Amino acid sequence: MLINNETIIKDNDPKIREKSQPVPLPLSQEDETLLRELYQYVENSTKPEIAEKENLRPAVGISAIQVGVPKQLTAVIVRLSGDDDEEEIVYRYMLANPKIVSSSVQKAYLESGEGCLSVEEDHDGYVVRSARVTVQGFDLVTGQDITIRARGYLAIVLQHELDHFKGILFYDHINPEDPYPEVPNSIVI
Ligand code: CO
Repeated sequence: MLINNETIIKDNDPKIREKSQPVPLPLSQEDETLLRELYQYVENSTKPEIAEKENLRPAVGISAIQVGVPKQLTAVIVRLSGDDDEEEIVYRYMLANPKIVSSSVQKAYLESGEGCLSVEEDHDGYVVRSARVTVQGFDLVTGQDITIRARGYLAIVLQHELDHFKGILFYDHINPEDPYPEVPNSIVI
């Protein structure tokens, strides 16, 4: 499947609101291929030359519904630069049927707000999410069931992607009456 900014469905397409279904495991050849293509999109999207040539918008994650396939498949690549001399840490996942099994009461949000490959207009405001989540699912990068204990930016990205399985977009979490709420005891990223 060709995945680029032309073929990714946008929020004016009702399909983006569809619920995604779990996939059978082990993955079918078709599901595995799609998951690898989603991952390749994310990987290539942050390489400026390829991104420009292939019309890719930079992304840290993409879910299958964004290419019109209502299956619980998502690819995430999050790079966190370490403090000072610490090395960059890269989290790479190709997830099938990931689920949030626990989430912190403490909240977190990105100060500059969120974006999405399926959303072309700006939607300003804080998207308040759990500061920490534990996600379980099958991961094709490692070829096994995994438990991800995520915090910070990774936790935000995973919650954003898993929202796509429910047809939820990031701006659904923004109250237009109060887009920049004060959230006590929250982590600002
Ligand atoms: Co998105």
